Amino acid sequence: MSSEQEIFDKCGRTYNPNDVIFHEGDLGNEMFIIQSGKVKISKQLKDGVEKTLVILGPGDFFGEMAVIDKDVRSANAVALDASRLIALDEEVFEMHMQTNPKIVKKILKNLTSRLRESNQQIANLMIKDSNRLVANTILLVVHKHGEEGANGITMDIPFTVAELSKMCGLDSPKTQEIVDKLIKAKVVRLSGETIVVTSLDNLEKFIKFLEMKEQFGE
Ligand code: CMP
Repeated sequence: MSSEQEIFDKCGRTYNPNDVIFHEGDLGNEMFIIQSGKVKISKQLKDGVEKTLVILGPGDFFGEMAVIDKDVRSANAVALDASRLIALDEEVFEMHMQTNPKIVKKILKNLTSRLRESNQQIANLMIKDSNRLVANTILLVVHKHGEEGANGITMDIPFTVAELSKMCGLDSPKTQEIVDKLIKAKVVRLSGETIVVTSLDNLEKFIKFLEMKEQFGE
């Protein structure tokens, strides 16, 4: 079997932080597997607001949709840090799909968990109260990307107010205003520009409180 380096020499690509891999609407006939680094998948909403769909890391793949349904790219892909990707063109992808049931299973498993996450995000975005939307989005990020440390929970992705606002589909000033409330309530703190969750317990209580307020009024 080929080593990672051999595969990379054949079909590898390197990207620098913030490099665009492709734009939503582009034609595309290859999919990518992340060898190292992080890639953000996002969509442009109306009024120029960008919505982050997911941040992917090593072992994850993306760009398979345009290859499978021969349509245009359904979202933007941008490298978040120095990244090494393996690009598989349509022919190689089809060959693997026909000869390797393990790959087919991995793709199906991945698409299934993506669908679950999308359902979760739809439920999240239905939240009308912006305070609860922001707090609940932080909770989802903690569950997927949180790493508990001595000084609180940090995320394994860039987690600034600007990133959080893209996840919520809100503008940055509004998100900042809510993060300030969460800082006051001792739910989060800022380490430089990065949001750190200081108390998961307080975050869950904050969300419960807002749910009760919505249910029973002021
Ligand atoms: P493609 O449409 O070719 O280009 C954009 C890629 O982003 C898409 O393939 C998927 O690989 C990925 N993608 C699109 N929507 C989502 C989503 N909701 N969650 C995770 N990844 C997605």
